[in-house]
Amino acid sequence: MDKKIIFSVDDLTDGEVSRLFFTSRTISALKKTKAEQYANALVLTAFFEPSTRTRLSFEIAALRLGMKVSNFHPFSSSLSKGESIDETLRSLLALAPDILVVRQQEPLRKDLFSLANVSIISGGDGVNEHPTQALLDCFTLVNHFRSDDLFAKNILIIGDVAHSRVAHSNIKLMSRLGANVSVLAPKPFQITENLGQKQSLLSFSECSGEYDVVMCLRMQKERMIDGCLMSDTDYFYNYGLTLTRLFKMGPQCMVLHPGPMNVGVEIDLAVFNHPQSLIQKQVENGVLVRSALLDLCL
Ligand code: CP
Repeated sequence: MDKKIIFSVDDLTDGEVSRLFFTSRTISALKKTKAEQYANALVLTAFFEPSTRTRLSFEIAALRLGMKVSNFHPFSSSLSKGESIDETLRSLLALAPDILVVRQQEPLRKDLFSLANVSIISGGDGVNEHPTQALLDCFTLVNHFRSDDLFAKNILIIGDVAHSRVAHSNIKLMSRLGANVSVLAPKPFQITENLGQKQSLLSFSECSGEYDVVMCLRMQKERMIDGCLMSDTDYFYNYGLTLTRLFKMGPQCMVLHPGPMNVGVEIDLAVFNHPQSLIQKQVENGVLVRSALLDLCL
């Protein structure tokens, strides 16, 4: 098999993204035709940062496809004896899984993985990218809109875009799929590089009221070197998504949140529970999209 290294949404062609969306919708049919190939596959997860959704949905996806799964647990590993993450990763590659799923605090380096005959999927690296989250977010939207792309959809991403790997991957992928992506955040949470976003806004009063989708992000406090810019209360007052604000976004504006979610900070509980919220659907779709990605790697 040709190994794949997926650290960014840029590592997937437009054809592969379309194939992933198609496979995500039809994964149960594939299970029958590829049962033998799946049964021989070993997926190893190595999460050096905490995770609920990403690690478990990869594990569930692999198990439901009939693959074998092994999980590396950093807190009970030889990291505590002084071994570095890079040396640990080299050992994990030597154990020769078919697919390694990695999450870490530092940007992932392709050179470390290039010699091993193992497919590598990023489960998120530092502030860099979280490609599988963007894939499942875009899959959730194309399914909701019953379309193959996001052509001319107006999407507003609210919050800490600067520290959010999810936002970085989503701005790239949503734009590639034809969406007009805007960002709403206080200046220190804005990004200066152009990932495809069309507009950067500072307050809700600048919003157009013609959005099809709004995505809320939490403040990524663990990545703020100089301490947190705003209290939770100030953040909710200025940038929290309430029903009143949602109804001003657009007539049927759908809501996304990649999680982890801080209710009462970036989003009100009433918004999470509202029929326009796709947040639980995102978690459900995580298993489908990651199943499709494991299939692509095999
Ligand atoms: N969205 C996301 O990456 O969630 P976890 O940190 O729980 O995996």
